Amino acid sequence: MSYKIIERRMIVPNIHELVVEAPHVASSVRPGNFVIIRPNEIGERMPLSVADFDRELGTVTSMFQEVGESTMKLALLKPGMEIPTYAGPLGVESKIDKFGTCLLVSGCFGIGASYPLARALKEAGNKVYMVIEARAKYLVYWEEKFRELIDGVTVITRDGSHGQKGHITGLGEVLKRNKIEPDRIFGNGCTFLMKLLSDVTRPMEIKTIVSMNPIMIDGTGMCGVCRLTVDGEIKFACVDGPEFDAHLIDWEEFLMRRKTYNEEEVEPLRRSGAGTEKHLHSCTGV
Ligand code: FES
Repeated sequence: MSYKIIERRMIVPNIHELVVEAPHVASSVRPGNFVIIRPNEIGERMPLSVADFDRELGTVTSMFQEVGESTMKLALLKPGMEIPTYAGPLGVESKIDKFGTCLLVSGCFGIGASYPLARALKEAGNKVYMVIEARAKYLVYWEEKFRELIDGVTVITRDGSHGQKGHITGLGEVLKRNKIEPDRIFGNGCTFLMKLLSDVTRPMEIKTIVSMNPIMIDGTGMCGVCRLTVDGEIKFACVDGPEFDAHLIDWEEFLMRRKTYNEEEVEPLRRSGAGTEKHLHSCTGV
């Protein structure tokens, strides 16, 4: 069995859109689910969030950040090529309800990954707003696509090159300025953005659900690599998540575990000369 690449293109620096023909995933994927991909027979398995899907065409879209050796192999895929593994849908689907006013906070690959959730929350009758957080204008994508779907999009960039100048740590001010009073917040993006979002929404006492992206191997709860502690209990992001209550996560432990493989991922790029500081520093706080 193999899966055809329909599209793979870099949409902003280091962020790629990947569309794969995988009818078995497209027919049943739900917001919050993810897939595990392997670019070739000897490649490692990598989890990817789902950014969109077309049940009729049988295609699934993901965004990924080219940040290390594994994702660099994904970035070499071209339309028409075939890959051996595209497993899914995996993980627990997002809990969708009529919460009232929902706020999506996203950055990096998480901007795209928020799309199915935004659509489902809207369909459930919620007011849906979004804050896109990026270092600069050149890292913002799909802004118009979200504007067409939801009730409002605010872009904050750290250098002020697009939208409002600011950082996720100033989210409270951004909400006040834009008169958004969320009943529930959903975060999607790199680990550091999720951690900062958790820190900033805890004193606001607004329930915040974040999508976690630990290293994964089997994606079935067997290997233990994606372990994290939530409310004092051991959980596995692949089978219990990837979404968890941000305020119950043991962030210190999670960040330690996340760092474990940084060198293994990035060092081969440094040696080959393909890795630049850009690969390491394109996300919040990384
Ligand atoms: Fe192995 Fe989750 S990826 S337990």
